[in-house]
Amino acid sequence: MSARAPLRLAILISGRGSNMEALARACASGTLAARVAVVIADRSGAAGIDTARALGIETATVVHAGDRSAFERALAAVLARHAPQAVALAGFMRVLSAQFVAAYLGRLFNIHPSLLPRYRGLDTHRRVLAAGEPVHGASVHFVTAELDAGPVVLQSRVPVRPGDSAAALAARVLASEHVIYPRALGWFAAGRLAWQDGGAWLDGRPLAAPVVEEFP
Ligand code: GRF
Repeated sequence: MSARAPLRLAILISGRGSNMEALARACASGTLAARVAVVIADRSGAAGIDTARALGIETATVVHAGDRSAFERALAAVLARHAPQAVALAGFMRVLSAQFVAAYLGRLFNIHPSLLPRYRGLDTHRRVLAAGEPVHGASVHFVTAELDAGPVVLQSRVPVRPGDSAAALAARVLASEHVIYPRALGWFAAGRLAWQDGGAWLDGRPLAAPVVEEFP
């Protein structure tokens, strides 16, 4: 039996990069059968770039100078040099064009800090607290042209505790993100998760609903 070669993974970040670090560490420890080929930031000074370098990962910065198509052309050129088999958005704060998404459809992932389809967009933790929700979480999904609307693969469910601040809740959700993002990409790397007929398939069957993991 021949073992699969590790998946070549590119990770796009905008800032802190803690999800990127969780993915990189999972690769290094062998729990995720992938290799981080490159970490790309869309702004200079993104802290995650220093973290990636310290982990011995190749990095690049492609600054958005106001013209989206020029930015995406430059980003695509850097990606092409690394020929990634999967691209993970990890705290990447830009909306990619439908054309860009189409080029990576089925191997482009994002992690979003809410139980999608609820609370798409920004500022999810504050909105969840304002609505008095008892449960919050994060979602790993395939990226499609519509923002935060691609098929969800794996979700963490995290309790909202009495007296939670947005920061406390964000920290609890983030800890769960660091578990579920490597897990979902591990399924993809192992060939268990695939994009087929316009949707997510897991273990040879269409994924009718996301897999849900409970966190304390
Ligand atoms: C995470 O909460 C992620 O879900 C969201 O942005 C945050 C990024 O954090 N998209 P980090 O840069 O991975 O630390």
